[in-house]
Amino acid sequence: MNEPKKIVITGASGFVAKNIRKFLSLNHYKLISIARNNFKKYKNEEKIILEKYDDPSLLNKIKNVDVLIHLVGTGKQSVDSDFESINVGLTKHFVNLSKKTKIKKFIYFSGLGVSSTTPLGYFISKYKAEILIQNSGLNYTIFRPSYIIGKDDLFTKYLKKQIQNSSIEIPGSGKFLIQPIHINDVEQIVLESILEKKFDNQIFDLVGPEKISFKDYVRLFSKNSDVLVKKINLEDAFHRAIHTSSSEFGVDDLNLLLGGFTGNHEKLKEISGIKFQSILGLLKAC
Ligand SMILES: NC(=O)c1ccc[n+]([C@@H]2O[C@H](COP(=O)([O-])OP(=O)(O)OC[C@H]3O[C@@H](n4cnc5c(N)ncnc54)[C@H](OP(=O)(O)O)[C@@H]3O)[C@@H](O)[C@H]2O)c1
Repeated sequence: MNEPKKIVITGASGFVAKNIRKFLSLNHYKLISIARNNFKKYKNEEKIILEKYDDPSLLNKIKNVDVLIHLVGTGKQSVDSDFESINVGLTKHFVNLSKKTKIKKFIYFSGLGVSSTTPLGYFISKYKAEILIQNSGLNYTIFRPSYIIGKDDLFTKYLKKQIQNSSIEIPGSGKFLIQPIHINDVEQIVLESILEKKFDNQIFDLVGPEKISFKDYVRLFSKNSDVLVKKINLEDAFHRAIHTSSSEFGVDDLNLLLGGFTGNHEKLKEISGIKFQSILGLLKAC
């Protein structure tokens, strides 16, 4: 695509959205950012604050836009906010709006491990969202991210919070793999996917260059602190996650972590041509 006129970003106050908005703003792109609550605005950015996304005024506000980056999503369920209504329902809503406004590119963040055979509710909702996008006739790029690491990401916050309590717990053996990617690399790839045709109508695993076991990652993370790293049995980990609804790391987070999902970095490396941050590099940065 030639330089896009305007880019819409949904879920604007989330971790990924905040970083992508800042990056695109610094690169002089015009943005329309949508969230439920007020947030700090960047240069070249219009804000839309909506309590409910079915507000009929929205269609008019996002006409004349070329790209929509859909970052609304939840990894946690409650009575008021479940996977089907948020991950599937709101994707359907923005796909429909994008069709009406004839958007030239729809970018979606799914999840690493999503497949047609997944038994996990979170992945099922992301899979259904992917199918809606693929069947929409819109030009799309779907990313399936691993843990995205940067300042204030959820995964790092979870580990830092434990450090404050002077120990990090490793559920089970800790041997399950993760393949984290740095937010700066994600920002760069999202921009490339807007500008370059070779990303059109494709799905990419959004994963870093290295796979590492959770226990080794935690050891590196806590290397310069005198924090205790201790294994806890899975029964205790799940019991706590199930019975503490306020827990930052819930049952679905544990399922994903223990699933040990890794992806195809080579495809991303080949198409993007960027030099990715190593695990040591991203740990330093966060
Ligand atoms: N970060 C990662 O490591 C990672 C990994 C895999 C997949 N992803 C996916 O990437 C996307 C962005 O992730 P993120 O880390 O930036 O997540 P995040 O910080 O939790 O942000 C997600 C945004 O979704 C919106 N949202 C959540 N629940 C909602 C509800 N009930 N109604 C309306 N909007 C709701 C919120 O938007 P507002 O509060 O701004 O309105 C929130 O800021 C998500 O779809 C996530 O599943 C992220």
